[in-house]
Amino acid sequence: MAKRASSADRRRFILRKLHSLSGVVPLGLFVVLHLWTQAHGLWGQARYDEAIADRNAIPYLPLIEVGLVLLPLAFHGLFGVFLALQSRANVGAYPFNRNWMYVAQRLSGVAGLAFIVWHLGQYWLPKYQGQLSPAELYPALCADLSATHGGVPLIALAYILGVAATVFHLANGLWGFCVSWGIVVTRNAQRLSATVFGLGGLLLFFLGANTAIYFATGSRVAVFGVPVGSHETLARTCSDLTTAVPAGQPAGLGK
Ligand code: HEM
Repeated sequence: MAKRASSADRRRFILRKLHSLSGVVPLGLFVVLHLWTQAHGLWGQARYDEAIADRNAIPYLPLIEVGLVLLPLAFHGLFGVFLALQSRANVGAYPFNRNWMYVAQRLSGVAGLAFIVWHLGQYWLPKYQGQLSPAELYPALCADLSATHGGVPLIALAYILGVAATVFHLANGLWGFCVSWGIVVTRNAQRLSATVFGLGGLLLFFLGANTAIYFATGSRVAVFGVPVGSHETLARTCSDLTTAVPAGQPAGLGK
């Protein structure tokens, strides 16, 4: 009996370690690279299409997407929901910062997962169903994110919240990873790493939100050498595309 209980404990320990590791590699790495690739949209369609073409030139891409992104995502997401359901929040009894972060980590994980599942259905699935070619991605993003429902840009808001949830989950998760794997041990190191991951998270959020706002409105904060608003330098932008679409004709392909 005692032997059965300890092997279950060991299995649970290994699963928790794999869960924590998969959040950093490959998933954390993927989020950074993915937001960077999407940010090429800030330079207009030509640069965006080039970035997508570079990504599509990776050998065995479908295998990599499934094996290194979607399967780890399914494991991390499902086991994460299982852990979140089992956890007992104690912010009422002990309202300390770390307890709030513990609750926020679980809530952002669930929100991020819901966003990713919806997001995959918008662009990734249609791509593999042959309904969305690489050249159609940029116009689809412009049309989808700039769409409003009752005057409210719901899709763009969902993107900003989805990026916020995912990036918070990653930054706070990286801190937890460093503590639980014994990488940062002293109180000072833990404080310093919390600041570093917090700032890194803000930077990553800015990158994703800037892209989403650009696809939604055509406005962006010009950093990283992004040319400031001239149509000559931006080969083809969202505003060129929306003016090119005849009234009443649906431009969005990713819905
Ligand atoms: C500004 C925000 C974002 C934009 C504009 C965006 C856009 C896209 C597009 C166009 C695709 C399809 C690309 C292709 O397959 O050729 C895609 C795929 C994907 N996105 Fe995003 N995305 C954003 C944020 C996120 C975030 C925060 C996550 C969280 C992990 C995420 C996860 C994924 C995944 C897992 C795929 C499928 C794998 C892949 O195609 O690389 N995305 N995204």
